[in-house]
Amino acid sequence: MSVMSDNQKKTIFSGVQPSGKLTLGNYLGAIKNFPLLQEEYNCIYCVVDMHAITVRQDPAALRRQTLEVLAQYIACGLDPEKSVLFIQSHVPAHAELGWVLNCYTMFGEASRMTQFKDKSAKHADNVNVGLFDYPVLMAADILLYQTDMVPVGVDQLQHIELARNIAQRFNGVYSDTFVMPEPYIPKTGAKIMSLADPTRKMSKSDENANGFVLLMDKPEDIMRKFKRAVTDSDSRIIVSEDKPGVSNLISIYALATGKTIEQVQEEFQGKGYGDFKPAVGEAVVELLRPIREKTEDLLKNKDYLEQVYREGAQKAGYLARKTLDKVYRKVGFVKR
Ligand code: TRP
Repeated sequence: MSVMSDNQKKTIFSGVQPSGKLTLGNYLGAIKNFPLLQEEYNCIYCVVDMHAITVRQDPAALRRQTLEVLAQYIACGLDPEKSVLFIQSHVPAHAELGWVLNCYTMFGEASRMTQFKDKSAKHADNVNVGLFDYPVLMAADILLYQTDMVPVGVDQLQHIELARNIAQRFNGVYSDTFVMPEPYIPKTGAKIMSLADPTRKMSKSDENANGFVLLMDKPEDIMRKFKRAVTDSDSRIIVSEDKPGVSNLISIYALATGKTIEQVQEEFQGKGYGDFKPAVGEAVVELLRPIREKTEDLLKNKDYLEQVYREGAQKAGYLARKTLDKVYRKVGFVKR
């Protein structure tokens, strides 16, 4: 198994929320590159169900969505033979290291996390300690695997910075224990904007469901969303700062078809939105069709998924134990 034997490669760790809903933005911005990364790095992908319960979840939905995310990742090209795919709650070392790291995280620094402030405002009736502690568990996720790089969106940079501060503090007290992780913002990843408001990032939490496309959307829904996509006052199909709607559609079309921006502008020169929008819709339908079909097949094959996440937890558990044993020894716990 590459992750255990190949120490020349750097390690990438990524946590994904089991929301069950990955968007076209998630795909074009990040997931599309994952299959390439797994050739060059030891890649570890974790579905963070323990993070998910910091806000109320419906238990049946959480279970289903955890498997849906796993299936979608595999359908997008992650190979369980090459990467480690697992579910966070299956590897107890996350909670165990999380506890230790709590004791090396200052109340003040955790209080400065802007996501905590945002989420406590949003879930004012349930500002639980887990929500406050969320970034410390995330630090444990990352540090357990001696991670070099963490692919994240900008909204998670503050959490990575906290993980680095905790690692540095621990290393300072006990000598080198953790690798210092770096955020990894993919160079090729595109920022895909909402179809309903192209000044905002495409997000599944958009109140307007026409603003985002999900990987699992049916073709007719995808077509409808693109036909209704907000465009700009003049009808030229060019990338321009004052045409955020059309620019967004052009980059989606380019990414979906593998064409360059210039080729796309040429293709639609002299044509209007009536031609362009359905063409983007069709390109996205064809891009997502194999992913949706593969995901549906995988979800019907529960035995296979179970085998993937069990083997994943075994590999992850082995790596995580090595770090946790070191940490327990350094802080002074008696060896079991
Ligand atoms: N907080 C991340 C998010 O909301 C999810 C996450 C949990 C994560 N643990 C992680 C991401 C470790 C990267 C590394 O997107």
